[in-house]
Amino acid sequence: MSNERIGWGIIGCGVIGPWHAQAITGAEGAELVAVCDIVEQKAKKLGEEYSVPYVTDINEFLAREDVQAVSICTPSGMHAEQAIAAAEAGKHILCEKPLDITLERIDAMIEAAAANNVKLAGVFQRRTLPSSQRVREAVRGGKLGKVVLGDCYQKYYRSHEYYASGEWRATWDLDGGGALMNQGVHGVDLLLWIMGDVARVSGYCRRLVRNIDVEDTAVAMVEFANGALGVLEATTSVTPGYAMALEVHGDTGSIKMASDEITTWAIAGEEEQTAEATGAGTAADPTALSTYGHQHHVADLCQAITEDRPPQIPGHEARKAVELIKAIYLSSREGGAAVELPLAYDDDGPGIYPSVVPPPW
Ligand SMILES: NC(=O)c1ccc[n+]([C@@H]2O[C@H](COP(=O)([O-])OP(=O)(O)OC[C@H]3O[C@@H](n4cnc5c(N)ncnc54)[C@H](O)[C@@H]3O)[C@@H](O)[C@H]2O)c1
Repeated sequence: MSNERIGWGIIGCGVIGPWHAQAITGAEGAELVAVCDIVEQKAKKLGEEYSVPYVTDINEFLAREDVQAVSICTPSGMHAEQAIAAAEAGKHILCEKPLDITLERIDAMIEAAAANNVKLAGVFQRRTLPSSQRVREAVRGGKLGKVVLGDCYQKYYRSHEYYASGEWRATWDLDGGGALMNQGVHGVDLLLWIMGDVARVSGYCRRLVRNIDVEDTAVAMVEFANGALGVLEATTSVTPGYAMALEVHGDTGSIKMASDEITTWAIAGEEEQTAEATGAGTAADPTALSTYGHQHHVADLCQAITEDRPPQIPGHEARKAVELIKAIYLSSREGGAAVELPLAYDDDGPGIYPSVVPPPW
């Protein structure tokens, strides 16, 4: 790897932007060189904190030659537009989750990155944890025998103040969904990464507590392509909020995780190992986030650029969680009917893929 550092910029200096600034500063191979936010005060605050130039105009930002890679940290429904502009300006992209909120726009991002020969990487920081990687290796390596069940429970709490903290939050147009598309997308991605693709799903999405447009609670039954079954639950409306629980069971073993920790490792022929989970993570506080994963993503994209290899989570991988969530929304709208994946191209519908928001509550 060359000693030259990749000049990095951030678009969006709200809640997660500062995490990227810290991650870029700490990551090998990257150097923060500029930040951008349409709200001058936010751009100024972050720019001054890291002693880098700040701008409010994305075109001015993308015209900077010292910016070689960008972190996209804007509301989810703006990601594609900004990623495509970045790709066309020749910048590599690290995009926050979800990549965007429609499959059509995600596909356009992936195409723009390929057409402009830049890397597109998605953020799913739970994949970078050694514990997650160990679980995946065990499951994929056959340690659990025939995999029977793969479940993920995300029973979170988000306050009224959280929803009121940004006009885009919990809107179909910019958040693209609620407990699943915003908070739950992490667990959906992790379950898919560990278990493999889903063949069919049925689910129910409801708005049970919060006065928001999108679902605050969702439950889905999944059938994985490998034949295993599983349950996905996501809510932002329970008190006090619990660590994400991921459980995989096979005929020769079981593994359970709570947040970042493996809490049960029970595999035939191996001594049982258990550990106490150290914290609930973002179960009740969305800012209770470490920069470990983001730093890993930044360093990985730097290496991918210098070695000209794909990043660890390329666009098509980050797309999968959004596709499954869209399928759950579609199922919910159709009263829990089973939906096959991959989602079929819908020539007659309003878009390429089924337009999938739940019905009015
Ligand atoms: N990986 C994680 O754990 C994690 C955690 C929080 C948020 N996120 C994701 O990060 C994204 C942002 O979330 P947030 O909570 O930081 O939101 P936020 O509202 O706090 O910040 C978004 C920022 O983008 C700015 N912005 C809006 N339009 C812009 C434009 N056209 N050009 C430049 N800046 C613009 C806003 O002014 C705001 O400062 C979302 O996609 C969210 O899902 C990820």
